[in-house]
Amino acid sequence: MMKNSHVCILGLGYIGLPTAAILTKHGFSVTGVDPDQTKATMISAGQSPFDEDGLGPLIADAALKKRLTIANSPPAADIYIICVPTPFKAQDNKNTQLPHPDLSFVEKAIASISSIAPDGALIILESTSPVGTTNYMAQLFAQAGRDASLFSFAYCPERVLPGNIIQELEENDRIIGGLDKQATERTCTFYRSFVTGKVWPCTAAVAELCKLVENSYRDVNIAFANELSIICHQLGIDVRDLTALANKHPRVSILEAGIGVGGHCIAVDPWFIASEFPETTQLIQTARKVNLEKTSWVISQITQSAEMLASQLGRKPIVALFGLAYKPNVADFRESPAVEIANALHHSTHSVMCVEPHAESLDELTLSSVEEACQTADLCVMLVKHHQFIALEEKLQPYQIKLDFCGLLQISHQ
Ligand SMILES: NC(=O)c1ccc[n+]([C@@H]2O[C@H](COP(=O)([O-])OP(=O)(O)OC[C@H]3O[C@@H](n4cnc5c(N)ncnc54)[C@H](O)[C@@H]3O)[C@@H](O)[C@H]2O)c1
Repeated sequence: MMKNSHVCILGLGYIGLPTAAILTKHGFSVTGVDPDQTKATMISAGQSPFDEDGLGPLIADAALKKRLTIANSPPAADIYIICVPTPFKAQDNKNTQLPHPDLSFVEKAIASISSIAPDGALIILESTSPVGTTNYMAQLFAQAGRDASLFSFAYCPERVLPGNIIQELEENDRIIGGLDKQATERTCTFYRSFVTGKVWPCTAAVAELCKLVENSYRDVNIAFANELSIICHQLGIDVRDLTALANKHPRVSILEAGIGVGGHCIAVDPWFIASEFPETTQLIQTARKVNLEKTSWVISQITQSAEMLASQLGRKPIVALFGLAYKPNVADFRESPAVEIANALHHSTHSVMCVEPHAESLDELTLSSVEEACQTADLCVMLVKHHQFIALEEKLQPYQIKLDFCGLLQISHQ
């Protein structure tokens, strides 16, 4: 019965489009809605607007079989899945000075379905959201003059890893929390029809908090590694050697340090808890601060080396930055610390060339090939461990100054 359901997905980005594709693979008829006309046109033509392993063929197949329809506005459907952005606003309106969630996209998505959703429809929120958002969706329906008790509202967070989304959408376990028992059961039945991972029922509030907690946990652990890396740098110890030895302890598992934390999940979601509980999130807030400051520390290390080189060379050195994405092997630049580093150096009038195999252009930054950078740069800075850079050490010149912040070279500079 489920497979005969008509599913409408609002938001065809990194989460919504792969979800639409997987559902069509499992025989569902899907309508996708997205205000981004460029995206919508490409998807209608059977093309994926972004790179994600395995997504292209699924979209092409869905278009061919006419299982995925793109519409300008949501139609009447049995199931609505909301996959719109939930960014944060820098200023907190509660005067805590902490960034807080921006729910305007969720509000607009609900406004677009509240008058046309048929009674009995299942409304699922997948966007990462603060605790209470599922309940808020029901309130918005009521404010639009609908009897919210006739609908089922549920929250099902996404835990996919970009680059591996297609596989993980089906294989990951799902946490599912409805506003009431029936909503939880209906949503679990729906996900069980296309997910091979386990489906774990709970309440909407638990599911909402669970997603935020998972990313806050990651942020805190990364902050520990990042703090440790600066201590090691000051002691002249290679943090990788230290971590490898510490991790020989059966109950210790320190993560790799990096240049900060990027992406729009781990760098964002902890604020959704902190802004709501400013007094009781000292650790979560400190972790955010440590990870943000690690990026500033990297900028200061590069600047110091560039200034030293400038006095030796008697001219501005050329600085090559390797990797701009927020993590290895993806074309995602949202909240990327490497982009922040590149922009900071660019604006402080350094001569910067960037090597990013996953981008053709990136704002004002000058992109170069690996070869060009290896031949031209005076200072080579490794920021992101893309697989295209694995043999980089052989291409670099002996006279070049190297700063490795991501473990690409034999000697790191954390
Ligand atoms: N990308 C990930 O790896 C990931 C992982 C877990 C959770 N999430 C969460 O999932 C949500 C979506 O993330 P994403 O990466 O897919 O974002 P995205 O920016 O790639 O896609 C969101 C899409 O929603 C569209 N949109 C905006 N308003 C709309 C509306 N009113 N109706 C229909 N479409 C609308 C946008 O045009 C955009 O194409 C966010 O809350 C994010 O935090 C993302």
